Amino acid sequence: MKYTSIQEAISKGKGQVFLRGWVYRIRSSNQFLFIVLRDSSNIIQCIIEKDKVASSLWKTANKLTIESSLRLSGTIRKESRAPTGYEIDVKELDIVQVAEPFPITKDFSTEFLADNKHLWLRSRKIAAVMKIRSTIVGAIHEFFRSRGYFEFDPPIFQPIQCEGGSTLFEVKYFKERMYMSQSWQLYAEAAIFALEKVYDMSPTFRAEKSKTSRHLSEFWMAEMEAAWMQLDEVTEVAKDEIRFIIKEVLARNREELKILKRDIKLLEHYAKTDYPTIKYSEALELLNKKFKMKIKWPKDLRTIEETKIANHYGVPVVVTHYPTEIMGFYKPPNKENPKEALCFDMLAPEGYCEIIGGSERSLDIENMTKRLIEQGEDPKRYEWYFELRKYGSVPHSGYGVGVERVVAWLCGLDNIKDAIAFPRTMTRMIP
Ligand code: 4AD
Ligand code: MG
Repeated sequence: MKYTSIQEAISKGKGQVFLRGWVYRIRSSNQFLFIVLRDSSNIIQCIIEKDKVASSLWKTANKLTIESSLRLSGTIRKESRAPTGYEIDVKELDIVQVAEPFPITKDFSTEFLADNKHLWLRSRKIAAVMKIRSTIVGAIHEFFRSRGYFEFDPPIFQPIQCEGGSTLFEVKYFKERMYMSQSWQLYAEAAIFALEKVYDMSPTFRAEKSKTSRHLSEFWMAEMEAAWMQLDEVTEVAKDEIRFIIKEVLARNREELKILKRDIKLLEHYAKTDYPTIKYSEALELLNKKFKMKIKWPKDLRTIEETKIANHYGVPVVVTHYPTEIMGFYKPPNKENPKEALCFDMLAPEGYCEIIGGSERSLDIENMTKRLIEQGEDPKRYEWYFELRKYGSVPHSGYGVGVERVVAWLCGLDNIKDAIAFPRTMTRMIP
C-alpha cells in the first residue's frame, strides 16, 4: 500500500489510489456521501454509495465531520462535475480522528478568522499564500547565492538603532538595555570588508504604533550589502531581484495564484518589464503637475502619493535622492547637492507602495556624528560602526526588501497580516 498525495493521484488519473488527509467538505443523502478530501497538495471529491459498499463502511463514513482525519483507498476517475475534475469511488476508509465541530465554517469576520489563525491556516486561501511565500523566500536565497553572495547572519539583540528611535523595541538584557533588530544593515557593513557581497533574511522588529494594512511589528526583511557598489548599480540589483522573484512565483505557483484569483497576466508583465528610476524631485513634479497635489520639499511621501506614482507607471518604480534631512543618519548626502541623499525606495503598484528601502552608506564619521546627535542619539555607542570607516573604507551600498510586503503584493492581499502565518501588530499577539 503506497500513499500518494491527492495531486499525484489526480495526475495518475485512473486505477487504485491510497490517500491520507482531512475532510474539507462533506454532504450526504440517504444514498450518497460526498467527501471532499484535502491534503497539502489539493482537494478531491470522494464518493460512497450506500448500496455499493459494505454496511460497515457506510456506517463509519457517516461519523465523519469537517476536518476529521482519515486514510482511504479507492479508484480514481475523471468526473467533470467534481471540484478538481476527478472523483474517487471509496473502497476502504479508516478514520484517524473524528474532529470536534470545526469553529470556522463560512463567512466569518476578519477578526474571528485572525483569532483562529492556527486553524484558518488550513484554508485554501492561506495555504496558497504560505506556498507562494515559501517560493519567494527560496527565490531570494537563490537570487543572491547564484550571484556569489554569502549568507551572513546578524545578531537580533542590538545595542544601537538603525532606523530611528521611535520604533525601537527595547528589552531588558541582564542589567543592560538592548534593542530588537530593526535591520541587519549595520552588521552587514562590517561583513563586506571580509566577504564583499552578503545577504540575509531575518526577523525584524519595529514598534509601529500605526494600524495600517502595511505595517507589522515583527516582519522578515531580506537585505543585501555589497562593497564597491554605488546607487546606480544597487538599484538595478533590486529590480533584477524583484523580477526574479516574480518569475519564480509564476513558474511554481500557477494553481495558488488561481486560488487567490490573482491577475496572472499582470504578474507576467511585471516579470518582464523594465522598471523606471526617477528622482524624488521628479516624483514631486509628477504629483504636483499631473495629480494637482501640493507636496513640497522635503515632505516624505505617504501612501497616497506613493500609490499615485507607482500606478502612474503601472510597474514598480525606483525613487532616488530623497531629502537628506528626512533620511537615516547613514544615508550620505549627494556631493553635488547635499540636500538630497544617495538613497532609494522601490514602490510597488496597485496600492502596495514601498517594498524596498536602500542607499549608499555614508563614509563621513563627522557628518554621521552630527546627525545622530540631532536625533538625540549618543554617538559613543556607534564607535564600532565608525571604526569600519577607518580601516580600508570603501564605497558600499545595500537595501532591504520587506518580505511580507512582497508576499502581500504578489498574492494581491488586502492586508499584510495575511502574508505571515502569525502576525504581530500593536493589537495582535494571539495566537
Ligand atoms: O526602509 P527600511 O526601514 O530600510 C531599512 O531598514 C534599511 N536599513 C535596509 C537596508 O538598507 N539594508 O525597511 C526596508 C523595508 C521597507 O521598504 C518595507 O518593505 C519593509 O522593510 N518594512 C516593513 N514591513 C512590514 N512592516 C513594517 N513595520 C515594516 N517596516 C519596513
Ligand atoms: Mg523605508
